[in-house]
Amino acid sequence: MQNNIFSTLFIGQNLITLSSVDSTNNYLKQLVSNSEPLPEGTVIMAEDQFAGRGQQGNIWQSAPGKNLTFSIYLKPVFLPLHQQFLLNMAVSNALNDALTHFLGPGVKIKWPNDVYYNHQKLGGVLIENQISGQTYKTGIIGIGLNVNQLEFTGDLNSRVTSITRILHKNVNLIELLAVLCSHIESQYLKLKANHFHSLQEAYLKNLFWFQEKGKFRHDGLIIEGVITGVSEQGLLMISSGGVEKAYQFKEIEFLI
Ligand code: BTN
Repeated sequence: MQNNIFSTLFIGQNLITLSSVDSTNNYLKQLVSNSEPLPEGTVIMAEDQFAGRGQQGNIWQSAPGKNLTFSIYLKPVFLPLHQQFLLNMAVSNALNDALTHFLGPGVKIKWPNDVYYNHQKLGGVLIENQISGQTYKTGIIGIGLNVNQLEFTGDLNSRVTSITRILHKNVNLIELLAVLCSHIESQYLKLKANHFHSLQEAYLKNLFWFQEKGKFRHDGLIIEGVITGVSEQGLLMISSGGVEKAYQFKEIEFLI
């Protein structure tokens, strides 16, 4: 379906809105595996995503009709496998830019790709890749963003925030989706044009606790250190006590 809401070249031009689905990532994966070819940039958006998935097997909760839960179909076949993390960087930068436009300063990317506003989580990204041999085939970019939800259950209520909590007004979900897709497309085109260095530079500029002292947990121990960078493979570099080490996603927890 062509639509006129999006001013993009391809991301969101084929927009499928579902009233209810378990997970937009699951739905899109299923569509991709069907024999019908799917246009790159197809977006699946759910009004009610009732079994959303987060990173590390976590669940992603979202009140029906209040937030954005969507997945984008990309084919980053041009990206060498060892540089996969650049896609995370491109998507993170896009979210950071688009949300800074709405919310002003305070938006940051917490490594690897959580969206934060000050010290609270505003959104998250779950990228699921399909690789064939040595080639990147498809990327399913799942994004959850807290938009018009004011109350969250349990301890989430103090750990997360939403656009309406920050701006004290509601935001039109489709219009916001169109802005996000346009930023994602422009970062993705930079990636396609090999602007790796500027993507990395922008990612570090947007990174929560970059070159600042922070507390982390590693192997049950608390470390005080400074984030010095993120490697091309996506490892987090922390310098502590004069020693710099690289950490994988599951090895380190931010103590915010
Ligand atoms: C995280 O922070 O743990 C990542 C959350 C990603 C949630 C989104 S919502 C749309 C898409 N569908 C899913 O099941 N998950 C992602």
